[in-house]
Amino acid sequence: MSINVAIDGPSASGKSTIAKLLAKKMGYVHIDTGAMYRCVAYLAIKSEIDLSDEPRLSQMAESMDIRLTSDGKVFLNQENVTEKIREEEFSLGASKVSVYAGVRKALVARQQRMAQDKGFIVDGRDIGTVVLPDAEVKIFQTASVESRARRRFNENLNKGVKSDFELLKKEIELRDFQDTNRKESPLKKAEDAIEIDTSDLTVEQVVQKIVEIIEKRSECYD
Ligand code: DC
Repeated sequence: MSINVAIDGPSASGKSTIAKLLAKKMGYVHIDTGAMYRCVAYLAIKSEIDLSDEPRLSQMAESMDIRLTSDGKVFLNQENVTEKIREEEFSLGASKVSVYAGVRKALVARQQRMAQDKGFIVDGRDIGTVVLPDAEVKIFQTASVESRARRRFNENLNKGVKSDFELLKKEIELRDFQDTNRKESPLKKAEDAIEIDTSDLTVEQVVQKIVEIIEKRSECYD
């Protein structure tokens, strides 16, 4: 494995699902950086730390123990938080804590250490621009707000939870606004990234598209 793959894009565009499947199919290791921001929000809320207390949040981001396992589990200070951090409270919390330079600095350094060799598929918002600007493949994965809300609605339904579609749309719009308008490393497409709009594509179609891009690019490094 001689390359790294960066996958960036807005919330709920299916990056983690795609990155996980790609990693499995191609024998790469997946790093879900959003899970790390979610862990900061989770621990802060649990420890009753104000989500605007940048110094304490930054210190926490530096010192907490986060482990991402190869089968997709997330351990925070030894606690399995894989499912818990997906809840809406921590999604919005992660979006809030990720605006702070101190939090980003701590997590970016960790992410760069984790992916210092090749063979990683890393998904997030700033991977192609800040974390791994030298990644050999950069994907910018988008989807309309409507289709992202629909996917989230169906996911919840599969879990037996009926959600309010309009509210889901509003939450996605709010996170888009926060992620693209923040001062520190806002969500933006790297100049050399390939954009894929997944609104009308199935998961398999997206995976196949990226597999082809990776294979073509890998030929240059064999
Ligand atoms: O990908 P996700 O929904 O799990 O990410 C949760 C939040 O973390 C998202 O609102 C933005 C933030 N994030 C970030 O700022 N930078 C990253 N590399 C990954 C996530």
